[in-house]
Amino acid sequence: MDRFIKIVSYVTLDAASGEGWSDLAATLVSGAGKIRAFYLAVGPDLFDDICARISEFGLVTPQTRVVIEKPIGKDLDSARKVNDAIARAFTEDQIFRIDHYLGKETVQNLMVLRFGNVLYEPLWNSAHIDHVQITVAESIGVGSRGDYYDTSGALRDMVQNHMLQLFCLVAMEPPESLDANSVRDEKLKVLKALKPVARDSAATVSVRGQYRAGATDNGAVPAYVDELQSERSDTETFVALKAEVANWRWAGVPFYLRTGKRLPERVSEIVIAFKPIPHSIFPTEAGTVHTNKLVMRLQPDEGVKQWIMIKDPGPGGMQLRHVPLDMSFADAFDNRHPEAYERLLLDVIRGDQTLFMRRDEVEAAWAWIDPILEAWNTARIAPTAYTAGTWGPSASVALIERDGRTWHEDTL
Ligand code: BG6
Repeated sequence: MDRFIKIVSYVTLDAASGEGWSDLAATLVSGAGKIRAFYLAVGPDLFDDICARISEFGLVTPQTRVVIEKPIGKDLDSARKVNDAIARAFTEDQIFRIDHYLGKETVQNLMVLRFGNVLYEPLWNSAHIDHVQITVAESIGVGSRGDYYDTSGALRDMVQNHMLQLFCLVAMEPPESLDANSVRDEKLKVLKALKPVARDSAATVSVRGQYRAGATDNGAVPAYVDELQSERSDTETFVALKAEVANWRWAGVPFYLRTGKRLPERVSEIVIAFKPIPHSIFPTEAGTVHTNKLVMRLQPDEGVKQWIMIKDPGPGGMQLRHVPLDMSFADAFDNRHPEAYERLLLDVIRGDQTLFMRRDEVEAAWAWIDPILEAWNTARIAPTAYTAGTWGPSASVALIERDGRTWHEDTL
């Protein structure tokens, strides 16, 4: 700790005015050739001023990077403005737009599962995959972040960034290499191929919810509006969507996404649901032949489960069982794996942008989100109340069950 403290210095400055900036410049002078990472852990309304000052005071060297956090805008137009402001001071290869989901262990493993094995890729298309589910459930409420959250809502807070990034990694074509631009080029193609949500179909393919008071494992919890200390709010704390990718690989394969706060548990997972076998040779008494599923769990208990059919061992005739080949990372590897932010900050220092969002990706994601927001607005689709501690509004169950499918539940 002593050694660390010795290399830390602290400079106070005013983000908006020029005050304090020459002190910062003086502090940095001796390390002109060193890597410089400006991490803007501030609200986006300060990005413009800070970048302008960094540039004005000559702090941008060839070894400099800037790291920014979401929200990058609240729609396409404002995202472009934020990106323009940053681009006035930095080149695109110096800009690291963090999406901490990309730093999660299983998310990166998704690329290895897909492209480091011969097993899955031949099946990874509409001929063999029935549908995909992406769930990011949180048991926490908005807590003290209400001021920010109420201007955002689940669609902007989670779908526009984290969930669409997961979506891209599932749906993208094999990149030529792990090189940052090769990966990001492929993700961009997915975002561009997302079928726009038409205004008149928004009510069918999207569900908005907001939690009312309820209970979780830790006891009673208040409603969203009570946490906000407000009379009412039209912000969604839950969203479910049915999305489609209009290209050869994915035509006709629905992607169901859902995320929300105050759900029964914290669980993030991606489920690849394969199609049924074309013909069963087994007698009805043998039991149901369930479909294969590949479940990648991001958190907690990171791991991968491949659900398959086997014969129930024993002499009692042919009995079928649906069981997972279960790989829990905690059981299989005893080394500690870094938190997403540790890995991403190290990548900033290394100058590796593979796990960061490029400008065009962020804007393409907004281009898909904007019409949904507009449709909600014009068609006055308000959030439906759901009780805290449940899986969201019943319309979210209807969204998938209407298609003869069901949200994955991890039971034997
Ligand atoms: C943040 C959102 O980006 O991600 C929060 O703003 C959310 O609302 C958080 O709680 C979830 O991150 P994690 O890593 O806990 O799943």
